[in-house]
Amino acid sequence: MVCIPTVSLNGCEKAMPVIGMGTSSYPPADMETAKAAILEAIKAGYRHFDTAFAYGSEKPLGQAIAQALSQGLIQSRDQLFITTKLWPAFAEPTQIVSACKMSLQNLGLEYVDMYLIHFPVRLTEMIKRTPVAEEIVRELDVKGVWEGMEECKNLGLTKGIGVSNFSCKKLHHLLSIAKIPPALNQVEMNPAWHQKQLRDFCRAKGIHITAYSPLGANNTKWGDNRIVESDVLANIANLNQKTTAQVALRWAYEQGVSLIAKSFNNDRMIQNLQIFDWELSEDHLQKINQLPQRKGFTLASILGPHQIILELDAES
Ligand SMILES: NC(=O)c1ccc[n+]([C@@H]2O[C@H](COP(=O)([O-])OP(=O)(O)OC[C@H]3O[C@@H](n4cnc5c(N)ncnc54)[C@H](OP(=O)(O)O)[C@@H]3O)[C@@H](O)[C@H]2O)c1
Repeated sequence: MVCIPTVSLNGCEKAMPVIGMGTSSYPPADMETAKAAILEAIKAGYRHFDTAFAYGSEKPLGQAIAQALSQGLIQSRDQLFITTKLWPAFAEPTQIVSACKMSLQNLGLEYVDMYLIHFPVRLTEMIKRTPVAEEIVRELDVKGVWEGMEECKNLGLTKGIGVSNFSCKKLHHLLSIAKIPPALNQVEMNPAWHQKQLRDFCRAKGIHITAYSPLGANNTKWGDNRIVESDVLANIANLNQKTTAQVALRWAYEQGVSLIAKSFNNDRMIQNLQIFDWELSEDHLQKINQLPQRKGFTLASILGPHQIILELDAES
């Protein structure tokens, strides 16, 4: 089985495996499909799983963990690193602890390893579909919500707390009020969206970066095929006898970040773990560093082109 390196995070007692399995699928997978894929991932050696209230994957992940324990694939729940996220409709200071407890109930766990604010925005209602009406979109009460996140950690509901989709500007504000600084910021990052400025900022502040959509989220509503169909990456892959996906994942790993890749296909999930016993040459790194840059995921594409949302998408 592949040995996956781990990274220590500020304010989190548990080290995090640098590669995790994403569980957001498009179109959304049914419970049995998701559970079966997660069990296969545990067999393949994944020990870090990324879910969110919004993905509908907390329950199948919890069921897969229970089955992995009963089958002896893992000896204890502590062997896994589980991340879940606060949905914007619960991003109200008084609702954070109960939202975290609801996620724990879905997962059938007593604690998660990382609890993240999913997006730096608040919705005043639960939604069934997107885009959402402009009148339910509000600015996030960063101070009040973060105090709720800190309470989750102090209550032992999570080992660590962090954020997702936060800009340098939002992090700057958060750091000025946080008693417990965010352990990590989970953001889109791949060879077509390097996030150089945000990475430099986070490194200076001791905030770890986790890259989501490291393969460009091809075949999803929020991504495209710029990575998997890149001629530059395909050429580098051929020269290294690797796949284009492995080159993209290795590039992210060599930038010092952790990454969350999603595959519910047995061969591809195994392939995605095989990035630790080789490296990219300086020349190949240079070529990747010169690829055209464009953000793939925008909040506006999901929630709608509302003023608050457009301003968030424009922040660096
Ligand atoms: N915090 C956030 O706001 C946020 C946003 C987006 C994603 N995420 C998290 O990050 C995870 C990963 O990101 P993502 O799902 O957006 O995108 P991704 O991991 O970049 O790409 C997933 C897509 O690539 C395919 N794929 C996987 N391995 C492949 C390979 N070796 N070769 C070719 N295609 C491959 C998958 O299909 P198959 O399954 O068929 O292999 C799927 O269509 C998510 O699942 C979620 O947990 C977080």
